[in-house]
Amino acid sequence: MAGLSFSNISKLFAGTPALNRINAEVAEGEFVALLGPSGCGKTTLLRLTAGFEVPDSGTITLGGQVLAGGGAFVAPEDRNIGIVFQSYALWPHKSVAGNVSYPLEVRRIPGPERKRRVAEALEITGLSAFADRAPAQLSGGQRQRVALARCLVADPRAVLLDEPLANLDLALRAAMQEAFAAFHRRTGATMLYVTHDQTEALALADRVAVMEGGRIRQFASPEALYDCPQDCFVAGFVGDGAVIALTATGTPVGGHILVQALGQQIEARCDSSVPTHICIRPEQVRIDPQGPIRARVSACTYQGGRFRLVLETDAETLVAHAPARARIGEEIRLSLHSPWAFHDPATPEILRVMQDA
Ligand SMILES: Nc1ncnc2c1ncn2[C@@H]1O[C@H](COP(=O)(O)OP(=O)(O)OP(=O)(O)O)[C@@H](O)[C@H]1O
Ligand SMILES: [Mg+2]
Repeated sequence: MAGLSFSNISKLFAGTPALNRINAEVAEGEFVALLGPSGCGKTTLLRLTAGFEVPDSGTITLGGQVLAGGGAFVAPEDRNIGIVFQSYALWPHKSVAGNVSYPLEVRRIPGPERKRRVAEALEITGLSAFADRAPAQLSGGQRQRVALARCLVADPRAVLLDEPLANLDLALRAAMQEAFAAFHRRTGATMLYVTHDQTEALALADRVAVMEGGRIRQFASPEALYDCPQDCFVAGFVGDGAVIALTATGTPVGGHILVQALGQQIEARCDSSVPTHICIRPEQVRIDPQGPIRARVSACTYQGGRFRLVLETDAETLVAHAPARARIGEEIRLSLHSPWAFHDPATPEILRVMQDA
C-alpha cells in the first residue's frame, strides 16, 4: 500500500471547475472519506486518481510515483489501484470464485497461487461459503463483498470506493459498514471512500475531507469536524445543530471566549481571536426551567431512547435532545453549554467588541 498526494489539482468541464485547487495528503494505510453534497466533485477526484480523467493542472502521486501532472500520465491499468463502485459490475456467468479470480487470470498468475489468493480474499470478505454461487444467487451486500474481494485479490496500492453502499437498505448498510471497517483493519489498505452520507463518513474514516463546490472545506478527524468546524458550511453540513452569527465578542482567554448570541452572553470554546459564528450541537442545548433563552417547540421526533426537538427562539432555530416527548407549540427555556465559536473566512470581521461584563 502507498500514500496518496494531491497537489493543486484542478479539473474543468466545459470551462466550469469541477475541482478547484485541491490539496490533500492521504497517509499510507489511512481510511479517508470524501464527504459533500451532490455535484461537489467527489467522483471527479476519484476518477482522476484512477486515471479515467486527466487533471487540467496539479500533480497526483501514489507512494511517491507521479500518476498525473507535469507532463506525466500513468494509464489506469498501470496504476494498480482497486476500484469499487455502487454497481457491482460482476460477470453474471462466472461463479463468485471465478469473478474474484478474473484479475489474476488477466495477469497470467499461475493456478496454485491464484487459488490461494482467491481463497484468502474470499476469507477476508466472509465469502468462503459462497465461492461456487452465481452472482444472481447473492444478496446486494454479498455482491458488494464480491466486488471488494475482486479488488483486494489484485493486491492494489490503494482502494477507491464510490458510494459503494448507496444501493443497499439501511440494515444492510450498517452490516456492510462493519465489513468495510474490518476489511480496512485486516488489509491496512489506503482507502479513499466517497459518500454523501455523513454518518457513514464519520463512522468509518480516520479523516474526512468535507467538499463543497470543487474545494475541500476542511480535512480533519470526525471528532474535529463535529467539535471544531472551521467554517459555516462544515458547521451546518456535518452534525445536527445550528450555526448562529455573533453580534459581539470579548477577548479569548485560554481557548474560551465570551460571545453575544441569541441576546445572551455565552461562554464558547474557540481557537480564533475574531470569531464570527457559533456552532451549537444538540448536546450543548439544555432544557432548563431557569435558562435565559425562551423557545417554542416546532417539531418532536422519536429517535430511539430519546426525542429530537426543533426549537424556535425569537431569531434562530436550535436542535436539542430530550428524554421525554414535548408538545408542539410548547414554550420552554434553554441554556447553552460550551458551543464552538469560529471565524468563517467568508464573513467580514465582527462589528463590536463586548463591554466588560
Ligand atoms: N464528464 C463530465 N462532463 C461535464 N461535466 C461533468 C462531467 N463529470 C462531472 N461533471 C460536473 O462536475 C461536477 C462534479 O461532479 P461529480 O460527479 O464529481 O460530483 P459528485 O460530488 O460525485 O456528486 P454526486 O454526489 O451526485 O455523485 C458536477 O457539476 C458535474 O455536473
Ligand atoms: Mg459522485
